[in-house]
Amino acid sequence: MPKYQIPGPKSAEYLQMSAEYEKGCTSSQPPVIWESAQGCVVRDVDGNEYLDWTSGVLVTNVGHCHPRHVQAIQDQVAKLMCPYDYRTSVRSELAKRLVESMPACAKNLDSAFLLTTGSEATEAAMRVAKRATGKHEIISFWGGFHGRTWGAMSMAGKQGTKQQWGPLMPGTLYSPYAYCYRCPFQMQPETCGNFCAGWLDHIAETESIGDIAALILEPYQGGAGFIFPPDGWLTAVQQWCRDHHVLFIVDEVQASFGRTGLMYCIEHENLSPNMLCLGKGIGSGIPCAATMFESRLLDGIGEMSSTSGGNPVSCAAALAVLDIITEEDLLANCRAVGAYMLGRLKQMVEKYEVCGDARGKGLVMGLEFVTDKQTKEPAGDFCKALCEGLVANGVICGRVGWWGQVLRIAPPLVITMEQAEQSLDALETTLGEMGG
Ligand SMILES: Cc1ncc(COP(=O)(O)O)c(C=O)c1O
Repeated sequence: MPKYQIPGPKSAEYLQMSAEYEKGCTSSQPPVIWESAQGCVVRDVDGNEYLDWTSGVLVTNVGHCHPRHVQAIQDQVAKLMCPYDYRTSVRSELAKRLVESMPACAKNLDSAFLLTTGSEATEAAMRVAKRATGKHEIISFWGGFHGRTWGAMSMAGKQGTKQQWGPLMPGTLYSPYAYCYRCPFQMQPETCGNFCAGWLDHIAETESIGDIAALILEPYQGGAGFIFPPDGWLTAVQQWCRDHHVLFIVDEVQASFGRTGLMYCIEHENLSPNMLCLGKGIGSGIPCAATMFESRLLDGIGEMSSTSGGNPVSCAAALAVLDIITEEDLLANCRAVGAYMLGRLKQMVEKYEVCGDARGKGLVMGLEFVTDKQTKEPAGDFCKALCEGLVANGVICGRVGWWGQVLRIAPPLVITMEQAEQSLDALETTLGEMGG
């Protein structure tokens, strides 16, 4: 028997209201209306409690309503909530802290442009790449996601994101990402020699007009199904950029701060991008984003501002997040609990016929469902039903992937070992109930 009947009566009421007054803005998530949350626990309007595997969709890295985060935000709200285009002390502090937080491999990133959303951060990077190089083409990757504003959406490597929103930004080029579980070239990562990274040569030779400004990628692909390229692949792509005088932009909107067990995902391979896009988790619930630049690229550019970028409340929130991550050693917790969770997910791949692949780093993991382990036929419908069953069993979750066949497992970095165990037990119970 599931723990909760979802939607509960109050959730059903609000879902109906939303369907009436937010027409066209549908949600694909299980039918639960969130009311409040603390740490890793979410409560809905019916009083049901859930463990959170979404982090509010990779946002609240320090946990929901962390008391210190809340206090910093409340203090700032009571003191100052704007202006636009004047400097404030918190804004200067955050820019300094962000630049100082760049790892040894990325000390070239010496300027922080503060923004509000991840889409703005990737747009800003692409705009600057064009101005700085005088070129206009941008390469992105199959399956990639960089936001929903026009330029960012144009770089999406999934049809769904851009279907019928065309025409796209001129100069968009796409190359295959290293989705080794479903390699489009039917190769094996142990022996392919990063074949798909080498595909960039074909793009440059056949699709480009010889005017490539930059390449943008996610260090792991989120929306496409939590796809983690094999070790060395990102380095090979970076090298290609260097060899071809193409600016290398890493989109860590989803991975920052700390999601993969290191403060920045680029640290896993000591990457040195020319620009780094940050968002989501850096404000941990309060909208905040940034593009980290090499200041040489900004020479004489100007015209870089945004009304809510660098808002004092966002800056105070992000400063508190930086403090909490360090003082509570959340990166160590992320690595330890993440290793335990991934270990158990891999055991499930051995145990259950429907579990095709488990992958992840730190506290971002994907469990991919298939109807047949040999053919790897994606099991999107199964994953949808599983998500609903898991929510009814007390774990808020969601799904990603080309066919919605990947369970998203990305709890706040404050999740305890006990909560991890309890939520994975609930997953196994649900799999058992569904005859997985
Ligand atoms: C990798 C990546 N880049 C950019 C974005 C866009 O961020 P936002 O929704 O804040 O505009 C997202 C959002 O999911 C993302 O995952």
